[in-house]
Amino acid sequence: MCTCMGVMKSDILEAIDQGADSFEALSEELGVGTGCSTCVEEVQQLLAQKKQKCCSS
Ligand code: FES
Repeated sequence: MCTCMGVMKSDILEAIDQGADSFEALSEELGVGTGCSTCVEEVQQLLAQKKQKCCSS
């Protein structure tokens, strides 16, 4: 997912599960998006999808 920081999709999903609810929180926790930032959009999409699934009822 974020090749610059060596962060996998599973790492991001796990961080979201543990309460990271914004891109900023994920960035702080994992460092995503702090390099080339091409992953920013992907991470935000993942976050949005995950939130929909988790809280939509
Ligand atoms: S791939 Fe995430 S900052 Fe470059």
